Amino acid sequence: MKSDRLTGDVAVVTGAASGIDRAIAIELARHGAVVACADLDDTGCTRTVDEITEAGGKAFGVHIDIGDAASVDRAFAEVFDRTGKITVLVNGAAVTRFSQLPECSDEEWNFVMNINLTGAFRCLRAVHPYMSRTGGRIVQISSTSGKSGGSWAGPHYVASKAGLIGLTKYAAGYFVKDGIRVNAICPGVTETPLTDQGEHTAATRAQQVSGVPMGRIGTPEDTAGVALFLVSDESRYITGITVDVTGGRYMYGN
Ligand SMILES: NC(=O)c1ccc[n+]([C@@H]2O[C@H](COP(=O)([O-])OP(=O)(O)OC[C@H]3O[C@@H](n4cnc5c(N)ncnc54)[C@H](O)[C@@H]3O)[C@@H](O)[C@H]2O)c1
Repeated sequence: MKSDRLTGDVAVVTGAASGIDRAIAIELARHGAVVACADLDDTGCTRTVDEITEAGGKAFGVHIDIGDAASVDRAFAEVFDRTGKITVLVNGAAVTRFSQLPECSDEEWNFVMNINLTGAFRCLRAVHPYMSRTGGRIVQISSTSGKSGGSWAGPHYVASKAGLIGLTKYAAGYFVKDGIRVNAICPGVTETPLTDQGEHTAATRAQQVSGVPMGRIGTPEDTAGVALFLVSDESRYITGITVDVTGGRYMYGN
């Protein structure tokens, strides 16, 4: 264990089977949290749980489909029944689609919004009765594309990530009376299975790197460290903000 700063916390991390959310789950466990790894992908979740427990941390898997309200309510009830509290939530699970505006059907638009934006809303609604008993911290994983308009994912993804920033501010204001802080992270392009999809050619990658002053694509661990800060007592006077994790890429034009 790296530290005990999250000892006593129970954290639900959606999307924990893969990529950035997996790295966040591992990082929170390293600092003492019991982590409920919540994902559609049970096999991937088991891998994350095994990695945490083999390193001496505490974690368990929970099946969740954030696209379905009943599944979300069931998953949070299951975590609470098992642990008696939920003090941290990371809303990380999301999907990406690459069709641009002319080809984007209503079905595809609704599919992406239902998971990325409505899914996060469902998790906020489901966690509130549990978290309001103890207070807590929530981190929502948005994206720089929600600020810049992006240049790669489609309009549904970009709009869902912009919506998450507004939802974060709303939730920060609404939950403050319950001692719950809510913040968002906007990662820039990060090396994960998500960025291995679509037209991710060497040329696209070179163009993405060229826009980053630090000269490299982000890693899941770059974002995990910021998530740790936002759920720790060190950030106790911060709520309703969005932190960019972009290697210095502050201009959103490309
Ligand atoms: N990778 C990037 O470049 C990048 C950049 C900015 C923001 N983000 C955001 O970071 C987060 C993690 O992205 P990633 O790149 O690690 O992606 P990823 O595809 O590696 O992981 C996403 C996880 O979400 C899960 N998931 C998808 N739909 C679900 C559902 N309906 N219910 C439950 N789980 C579901 C998947 O099974 C997967 O484990 C996402 O919110 C993404 O939008 C990623």
